[in-house]
Amino acid sequence: MSLKEKINPAKLPEHIAIIMDGNGRWAKQQGEQRIFGHENGVKSVRDTVEAAAEIGIKYLTMYAFSTENWNRPKEEVIALMQLLVYTINAETATLNKNSIRLQAIGDLKSLPPDCYNELQEAIENTKNNSRMTLVLALSYSSRWEIINAVKEIAQKVEDKTLSASEINEDTIAQHLCTANIPDPELMIRTSGEHRISNFLLWQLAYSELYFTDKLWPDFRKEDLFEAILDYQNRERRFGKTSEQLV
Ligand code: IPE
Ligand code: IPE
Ligand code: MG
Repeated sequence: MSLKEKINPAKLPEHIAIIMDGNGRWAKQQGEQRIFGHENGVKSVRDTVEAAAEIGIKYLTMYAFSTENWNRPKEEVIALMQLLVYTINAETATLNKNSIRLQAIGDLKSLPPDCYNELQEAIENTKNNSRMTLVLALSYSSRWEIINAVKEIAQKVEDKTLSASEINEDTIAQHLCTANIPDPELMIRTSGEHRISNFLLWQLAYSELYFTDKLWPDFRKEDLFEAILDYQNRERRFGKTSEQLV
């Protein structure tokens, strides 16, 4: 039986989030520049998106560029932005062919104009697709997102359209970039790093975390299937005892 066949379709995560890490180290291993790793990472994105759609995942969020990544060497940032523009442009037709809707979370206004425009165009061109939603986290960090949410909520309290005592989990969730997107049941990080790096801090509260040593450019469909199988073997207790779950 293939890994894919072993997956229980009744127990699929609805939303998978991925921290795509290890491009630089992958390139270095080949004696190449870091950008070579990013370029090869695009193949992994393509493969993973295809695999997720194939098995019926509804939301796939991919961390492509963090707020902190602006601090990288200027040449790398520029090269990454160019790669992004090029890739979004080149992949829109495939997204439409596979009925995949593109969305983005993060401080999108901070992206270079050509990148921002390309992104908005692709979001607009794919908005009626319904098989899966691909969410790109771009210039994203969770603390940035939470600060924005708090500011918006505080403004509503100041304007008296919301009372402080009414604020609950839903209020916060609805003011995050991921409003209307369910929390990920599974979060995958590649490259052997065991950290969250400012990604979806609120949304990952009860996610199952899966870490693999594979570097992102080596990540393929089978690796996604393996992560999902691992997830399906876990017991999600949400504070209860095992006995209460049966
Ligand atoms: C992930 O790979 C891609 C981005 C953060 C844009 P890295 O570029 O972080 O690769 P490593 O971690 O240095 O190997
Ligand atoms: C996290 O990777 C961000 C993305 C994958 C886009 P980094 O490689 O930037 O994370 P740290 O800084 O090593 O934690
Ligand atoms: Mg890294």
